[in-house]
Amino acid sequence: MESQIDYWTARALLEWQVELGATEAIQDVPVDRYALATVVPKKPVAQAEPPMQAGSPDTDAVSLAQQAVGRASDLAGLRAALEGFGHCDLKKGAQNLVFADGDPSAKVMVIGEAPGRDEDRQGVPFAGSAGQLFDKMFAAIGMTRSAGGVAGLYVTNVLPWRPPQNRDPKPDEIAMMVPFVKRHIELARPDLIVLMGNVPCQALLGRRGITRLRGNWHEVSGIPALPMFHPDQLLRNPLAKREAWADLLSLQAKLREMV
Ligand code: URA
Repeated sequence: MESQIDYWTARALLEWQVELGATEAIQDVPVDRYALATVVPKKPVAQAEPPMQAGSPDTDAVSLAQQAVGRASDLAGLRAALEGFGHCDLKKGAQNLVFADGDPSAKVMVIGEAPGRDEDRQGVPFAGSAGQLFDKMFAAIGMTRSAGGVAGLYVTNVLPWRPPQNRDPKPDEIAMMVPFVKRHIELARPDLIVLMGNVPCQALLGRRGITRLRGNWHEVSGIPALPMFHPDQLLRNPLAKREAWADLLSLQAKLREMV
């Protein structure tokens, strides 16, 4: 039956969504509604794929990701492997791949969560308001992504594509990106890693709970790794900047031990 929503009802529904914070009229995956009637064939029941359990990683996508990274022998190859990876639906809704920023030979590699709107538009990680705080935090210990050597930073995210409406990345999306992030670490070979927020902790330590994890050194691929509060979290809760400062000092001390 055709739906009969009048103008004022449709307008009220839209205003309600705006009130709730919806800023963009998009879904997880773009839908070409003109093509739907003609192109999408009805799937025969016998061929239907078994439903994926909520939250369970798509093992096919994970093994395809492993194969793709196996062919990447340098950072340009890894970027190309991500560009050619068609198994993550986030890619379809993103404007740009957000690969990395800073000096790939820096001693410290910072791994964030996922691009937001500004990062998606510019193709650069930590380019928006969280990025401004990010830069201030590291500047406070004399580090910047525009420098090389000891003062330099190399910055990336677990997810290279923006999740719609900045929703949290799903477990299967994180799982299929883990091979790429691990290869990224192998190719950049940093001396120290900073895990910014829950998503990189989930991806690389298999644990969430940043409040407990932060401030303690762990290991990722044999490299010392420090979980820290994400700048977005500090923007929401400025009192946590005290802990973030302690973690920055811990990073600085560890770096001094190494040079
Ligand atoms: N938050 C992140 O974790 N990464 C970005 O690039 C931007 C915001």
